[in-house]
Parts: sequence; structure tokens; C-alpha cells
Amino acid sequence: MYKILLVLLLSYLIGNINAAYLIGRILENKDIRNYGSGNAGATNALRVFGAKIAAVTFLFDLLKAVIAVILGKMILGETGMFLAGISVIVGHNWPALLNFRGGKGIASTIGVMLIINYKITLICLAIGLIIVIKSRYVSLGSVITMALLPIIGLFFNRPFNLDFLIFTLILSAMAIYRHKGNISRLLKGQERKIGQRV
Ligand code: G3P
Repeated sequence: MYKILLVLLLSYLIGNINAAYLIGRILENKDIRNYGSGNAGATNALRVFGAKIAAVTFLFDLLKAVIAVILGKMILGETGMFLAGISVIVGHNWPALLNFRGGKGIASTIGVMLIINYKITLICLAIGLIIVIKSRYVSLGSVITMALLPIIGLFFNRPFNLDFLIFTLILSAMAIYRHKGNISRLLKGQERKIGQRV
């Protein structure tokens, strides 16, 4: 039992280390959550701080998730990977250290999934990138790809692993829930396109 708690707590705390927030504070003396979409993530970092900071933000948030899942695996095996994967994203999206206002967890989800199944991740990344390039909406690519994740995951789920299906459904639900504001803006035609500042 203590190992489960250790994995959950450790991953949650790792998730709390938010790159967009920290870099914005340190380099620009700005709380990114007061600018652009208000999201503490790479897409908003691109909007508010530019491409270099956005790239660092994306890589940092991805890498912290990789580290959390590897630690989870070392402590508790496969279950540890699933628990760490969910918990690091929860920590990123709802960080206690930042008044529960964090990011939307896409870069961290990519990091989690890269360790758990890189083939599914590469397929999802390709789909997401095509949608973003064609539509110029990062949120549209994120939402569609995250909705497809459990379905794509099913094709690679051999022999069938119920825990893995539940895991991908939770990641999908968290991402879609976090994008509810984006979904509503997309439906109203008010979503910001990539490269559009403000
Ligand atoms: O990964 C977040 C992205 O899908 C949307 O970000 O800042 O446009 O809400 P943002």
C-alpha cells in the first residue's frame, strides 16, 4: 500500500513542476496564466513567449512525465506505470503548488504514452500533427487525438489488458475535460489559431 501512495505522491509532485509557469516567471517575470488562453502549457507559451520557450516547455513537460513513469515502473511495475502516468498528468493539470491552475496535460500525456507504448504514441502524434497543420488549431488536434487514443490503443492491446484500456480511457477523459473551454470556443469559431498572438 505504501508503494502505491509513494508512486501517486511522487508523480503528482513531479507533475506540479510546471515549465511554462516557471520559465515565464523566471525569464519574463510573468504568470503565463494571466495571458493568452490562461493555460500553463506549451501552446500558450508559444502565444505569449515565442517558439524557443514553447519548445523548452513542451520538452520539459514531456520529460517530467517520462521520469515519473520510469520511477513508477521501478517502484511498482506495470501498475506503477499506469498510476504514475495518471498522477503526473493530474499534478500537471491541477497542481496544488500553483492553486490547482496548471496545464492541459498533452505534452505530459505524450511523455507517459511514449514509455508505455511508443507505437500508439507515434500514430497519435502523426494524427494530431496532421490535424494541427491542416486546421491550425492545436486544441482541435489535441481533443480529436485524445478521443482516439483508447480506440487506437485497442488495436495494440494484445493480449487484452483491461487495466490498459481503463488507463487510456482516463487519459482521454482528463484531456477532453481540460479542453472544455477550447471545445466551446471551437464551436463558436472563437478559438485562437496557432501563430495567433494574444
Ligand atoms: O495542449 C493544449 C492545447 O491543446 C490548447 O492550448 O493554450 O490553446 O488552450 P490553449
